[in-house]
Amino acid sequence: MRTALITGASSGIGAEIAKRLDSLGFSVILTARRADRLQALAAELTNEAEVITADLSQHSECLRLYDEVKDRKVSVLINNAGFGMIGDFEKTDLDRELSLIDVNCGAVHILTKLFLNDMIARDRGYILNVGSSAGLMPGGPLMAAYYASKAYVVSLTQGIAEELRARGSRVGISVLCPGPVETEFNDVAECSFSVKGISAQFCAEEALKGLFARETVIIPDRGMKLAVAGAKLAPKKVVLRIARTVQSKKLD
Ligand SMILES: NC(=O)c1ccc[n+]([C@@H]2O[C@H](COP(=O)([O-])OP(=O)(O)OC[C@H]3O[C@@H](n4cnc5c(N)ncnc54)[C@H](OP(=O)(O)O)[C@@H]3O)[C@@H](O)[C@H]2O)c1
Repeated sequence: MRTALITGASSGIGAEIAKRLDSLGFSVILTARRADRLQALAAELTNEAEVITADLSQHSECLRLYDEVKDRKVSVLINNAGFGMIGDFEKTDLDRELSLIDVNCGAVHILTKLFLNDMIARDRGYILNVGSSAGLMPGGPLMAAYYASKAYVVSLTQGIAEELRARGSRVGISVLCPGPVETEFNDVAECSFSVKGISAQFCAEEALKGLFARETVIIPDRGMKLAVAGAKLAPKKVVLRIARTVQSKKLD
């Protein structure tokens, strides 16, 4: 049976991707910090499911996670764990921001490198890095660190995708760039969306369709595709002002 590893599987997009992969016949390895949530999800699934708790803000935990599963021939890696923060940059908490960078960028970087090497050696496998439409924007006033972290994920993934294409590799790598998705993201970021988001289930289905179709950048909903296309055409300062207005509404 094929094996998939999903980070941030204890809620939201990660949990829905795990359910979808299970329904596609994968055995899943679920990881996050909340063991009870992971075990409850594992109990719901049809195929074999393993739970490994890890705090991916710690580089050593990323390495331990890899060591624990490296012999399992993981054929799909979903780098989904992540969180956001809102507020004027000079006021946001530095330690939490450094943790954000460690989870949103560091863990994605470390796990991508380690599993990619194994996948290249077998010439098969898929990696999905969960970025955000935020990562396709020129910046994110009031969520500056979060937008910057997701720009890193987009850039890293696109760079690797071109390396794989150039060498004719059968390994696929994609970045998922959703707009708002109804999950626990807002509770963690201590804000609320100003527009209604798509469901985590729809997002997960579109993500996996795009991943297996080898799309490098996956934007699950049509509205966000249009917004991203518009943002590319508009002057950056206009996009940044609109982004500020959108983010400030989350604080209302
Ligand atoms: N919701 C949106 O609107 C949206 C839009 C675009 C992109 N995204 C991205 O989608 C991904 C999933 O977020 P979500 O919306 O599904 O939010 P969520 O429901 O809050 O899920 C976040 C997941 O990340 C895990 N996580 C957070 N910090 C972690 C840490 N230090 N170590 C290990 N796991 C950690 C959480 O697990 P534990 O707390 O149990 O550790 C949880 O499973 C994130 O990368 C987010 O940036 C979300």
